[in-house]
Amino acid sequence: MRRPLVAGNWKMHGTRASVAELIEGLRRLEVPAEVEVAVMPPCLYINQVLVGLEGKAIAVGAQNCALEPMQGALTGEIAPSQLVDAGCGMVLVGHSERRTILGERDEQVCRKFAAAQSCGLVPVLCVGETLEERQAGRTLEVVAGQLDAVIDELGVDAFARAVVAYEPVWAIGTGLTASPQQAQEVHAAIRAQFQAQSAEVAQAVRILYGGSVKAANAAELFGMPDIDGGLIGGASLNADEFGAICRAAGN
Ligand code: PGA
Repeated sequence: MRRPLVAGNWKMHGTRASVAELIEGLRRLEVPAEVEVAVMPPCLYINQVLVGLEGKAIAVGAQNCALEPMQGALTGEIAPSQLVDAGCGMVLVGHSERRTILGERDEQVCRKFAAAQSCGLVPVLCVGETLEERQAGRTLEVVAGQLDAVIDELGVDAFARAVVAYEPVWAIGTGLTASPQQAQEVHAAIRAQFQAQSAEVAQAVRILYGGSVKAANAAELFGMPDIDGGLIGGASLNADEFGAICRAAGN
């Protein structure tokens, strides 16, 4: 059995005051023990969140990391080893906002994945197609290519210590959610891609769905056989909503 994971991606949201409020809300949540829960604040607030959530079964991760594992001369970046030092356990790599707005390519995503893993961070590899790609019938091909960019370079076993998040770009922050069937089709294809190389990895790897997940649609999505939890953007900024999503992953 794969343990469900629900991760809140706060993106570039928050102030010290609003983060303090969100921490208060998270502290009050009853988090189901069978669900792994994490939040990913902007780096500036990671320490505040870690201190604020001390003793609470909510892990803290980051939204991005540098290409190189160790600290060095790289202005404005944060090394995976520094994230570990700060208390993070996982990090997003290849989020579509970074791919599309900041031009991050598969090659960089792969280096970040490797750098994170070499420091003991669990990389959460984000993949997903644009609306144009879906309409052209290229969804599975695009997602397979993003996954292969990492598998070909690092080997399938790298995913024994990683998580995949399928996030259709057209569903992120738009209120449009992939239907459970649409999502399941892609999740099953991702798992089959692992299965072709390692049955063990295919069985164990957690594949999260992301894209306008909210309390109202979470249970249906998480009920699909190959959906092992969610990567939650907007709805993770509201503690009660996020808590309801976490509970949906436990049912
Ligand atoms: P959303 O974002 O839930 O606001 O659509 C998800 C994500 O980008 O991780």
